[in-house]
This record gives sequence, structure tokens and C-alpha cells, in this order.
Amino acid sequence: MRLNNIPKDFLWGASTSAFQVEGAYQEDGKGLSIADIRSFKKSTQQLDTKVTVDHYHHWQEDVALMKELGMKSYRFSISWPRIFPNGTDAQPNETGLAFYHQLIDQLLSEKIEPIVTMYHFDQPMGMIEEYGGWIDRRSITDFVKYAECLFEEFGQKVKYWLTINEQAVLVVAPDMLGIDLTLPFSEKYQQAYQANYHMWLAQAKVYKLFRERYPHNYIGPAISHLTTLPASKKSYDMMAAKELEDFYTFSQIDVALNGEIPIYFSNELANAQITIQTYPEDGEILKEGTANFIGVNWYCTTIVEAKKERHSSDFLFTRINRTLDPDLLHTNWGWNFDPVGLRYGMRELMHRYGDIPIMITECGWSQEEQLESGKIHDSQRISYLKEHIEQMDLSIGDGVNIISFNPWSFIDLLSVGDGMEKRYGLVFVDRTNFEKRQQKRYKKDSFEFYKELIKANSVN
Ligand code: BG6
Repeated sequence: MRLNNIPKDFLWGASTSAFQVEGAYQEDGKGLSIADIRSFKKSTQQLDTKVTVDHYHHWQEDVALMKELGMKSYRFSISWPRIFPNGTDAQPNETGLAFYHQLIDQLLSEKIEPIVTMYHFDQPMGMIEEYGGWIDRRSITDFVKYAECLFEEFGQKVKYWLTINEQAVLVVAPDMLGIDLTLPFSEKYQQAYQANYHMWLAQAKVYKLFRERYPHNYIGPAISHLTTLPASKKSYDMMAAKELEDFYTFSQIDVALNGEIPIYFSNELANAQITIQTYPEDGEILKEGTANFIGVNWYCTTIVEAKKERHSSDFLFTRINRTLDPDLLHTNWGWNFDPVGLRYGMRELMHRYGDIPIMITECGWSQEEQLESGKIHDSQRISYLKEHIEQMDLSIGDGVNIISFNPWSFIDLLSVGDGMEKRYGLVFVDRTNFEKRQQKRYKKDSFEFYKELIKANSVN
């Protein structure tokens, strides 16, 4: 099938994040992040963040591979604790800044557009130890200081900025915010939604600052979009799907683009007896600082049903069940292969948000892989990419303003929850959870497929 709707200047790219690829976890002044600490707790079963695929020392080789692939964009994150080792520091770490200057300069000289995420799950531990991290309002000041520093250093070089990666995931997995998972349900979510609120305020301030300084450039959140489908056509299952999608995904976009917390969201918190501490000026802060594009991380659809025994006063997460569609193919980790869901989700975004520019900032297929005579024949990943790209092309034909596609991931990396051997990369890295080896890079079959696709702007 030819791609009929992809514009000529479309940004074909790929994605990674700092703690998942860089390694060098304590090198050149980097502090520890909550992502490091979480990984150390699991390190008897799987890999931690210490080395991963050592991009910190292989970045030149990696950028050369990006060039060979023909990438027009590269979405990566700056490690917050590499710039402010404790988060609370008054001055940034110059060596950390220098690392990203050389990476960005190299990308630009290869005509690869950098798309930079400021915070991808790796809040500095210093902030969490000193005042509890995002649950405390002081985190707003520390995030704004970090953002200002990044704009000062890289604002002339980077046109596309993503503030926070998958805020909704941080809230539903609150140990990623440093919140104690053994707390009683209500207390845990009380803290998590207070943190969520502070992240909204912090981003609003950063959107405002950036858009005043760089009115022609782009800033927005990277949203986890779980296109949510009902398990049946019964109205209560359809309502369950709508409620989850609104609460989890659309609340994040509504706040970023409209500068207002939607009523359905506040009602749900009230249902769960969660009370957010606010200041009188907050409404204005949210209203004054909005995003002008969104990143969307899209992997698969989520299917839900309403529980048989449910009460409207229960918290949303306790009123619904997730189910699996046995007709769909799934990864070993239960993520389905449902490409039409991408088009459906994109069309929903257009209906809600008009022609706001959208970047697909993640989209990918995970599997275990082993080298066979220096090759990786990842035909399933190729089908995944092919079918999702076809659906994306149709979405653009539908009128959705998609400007870039960045599959997860450019290179094999440390999964957030499942170690190294859950692989997503177009480039294979020869190491296992426990054997570091030389981290030699190999191009997978999907690399060659994607390279041809970018060159031709079509799918063969
Ligand atoms: C997204 C994250 O939620 O999903 C990535 O932004 C993550 O950081 C990706 O790696 C896949 O999830 P996992 O758990 O398989 O690594």
C-alpha cells in the first residue's frame, strides 16, 4: 500500500529516554533519580539503570546509526539529575549540559530534528528526600528552574519540547513519584493526585515562559493514550470505557490545551474523597499557560467492562475491569496488536481538539530476541510498524494534524517494568539482563524495513 497522505516534510523518527539507554548512572556529576532507585530494588531479578545500553559512551555510534536509518527526528529525554543532581541545587552541572550540547549539535549537523523530553520518569531523589517530591508545592519552583536552564542552554537549537512524559502513568503507579505503595489506598491516591496537580501547575508556568520566549516553536506534554474500548455494546460497558478514557487520558490533554480542570475529573476525585490543596491564583496560572502541540504515546487499545457489583460512589478504578480480546494477537506482556485503534484514537483527538499538531512520540512492539548469525528477524515488529503507519496515514487523510512518528524504540533499552530482554528496538544490543558483554549494536530487519519506508515515504 502506498502512503497517500504523509506530507513531504513529515518527521520520521524514533524514541528513547535517558534512564533507559544512557547508563553512566553516577558519572560526571549525575545524581540519582527515582527511576534509578526503583530499578535497584528489582536488580536481583533483572537489569538496573547502571549501564543499560551505555548510550552515554556510545552516542556517536548511535547517532551514526540514526543517520544511516534516515531519521528526520530523534525523540530523547534529558536526564534531570544529570543537569541538577539533587533537583534542588542552585547551579546546574556543567558536564551534564555539555553532554547534551554535543549530542544535540551532532543531531543537527546530521539534519535530525531533536525532540526533547524534559522529564521522563527520572525525578532527582534529592527533591524526594528533602520535601517528598511532587507532593510538595516546592517541586513547582524546582521544575521551572530546570526548564528555564534548558531553554537558556538549548532554546536556540531545539524547536520541539515535551515537558512531562506520561503523567497519568506516574499517578497510577505512584511509586514512580516516590510515594510509598504500602500506604492505605485513599492516602496513596490522595498524595498521587496532589502530585498530579502540582505537575499541572509546573507545566502551565513552563508553557507560558517558553511561548513568550519562543512563539514560533512547540511545547506540550507527552500523553499516555490508552484508546479505551468497551468489552460489549451494553451502555454500562460503553460508559466505563468513556469514563476511564476521559479520566486517564483526556483530563491530561484538556488541562494542557484548555487551561482548566474538567468537571468530570474533579467529580471523580470527590467520589474518592480526595481533596486537593489549591491556592487562589492557581486557576489563572493554568489558564495563562497552555501547550501548543501534544505528544501521544500509543501502543494498543485497552478493553474494559463495568464490574457487576458497582456503586457510583466507588472510585473509578474500582468500578471497572480490564479484559482481553482473544481474537487479537498480544505480546508476552499482554499488549494487543490493534492498529485500527490508532486511527480511531487519532480521530477522537481531532474531534476534541481540532487541528492541534500531534506527534506520535511512542508506538512499538516488544518481544524477546536472540541473534541468529548476527541477524534479528523481527517480522512481527515489521507488521506492527507497517500496519500502524498505514493507519496513521489514513488518520492524516481524515484530517488529523499528525506531524511526526517516533516508534519506541530506536534501540533496545531497559523496559520500565520488565528488564532488558523485553526488547523494542530497531537496533539490537548484545547484552542480557545479567551479562553486560560489549553492548555491540546490530541492525534488525525492522531497521532495514523502516529505512526503506523513510526513503520512499511509502510502505512496500
Ligand atoms: C511508555 C514509557 O509508557 O511505555 C516508556 O514512556 C516505556 O518509558 C514504554 O518503556 C514501554 O513500557 P515498558 O514497561 O514495556 O518499558
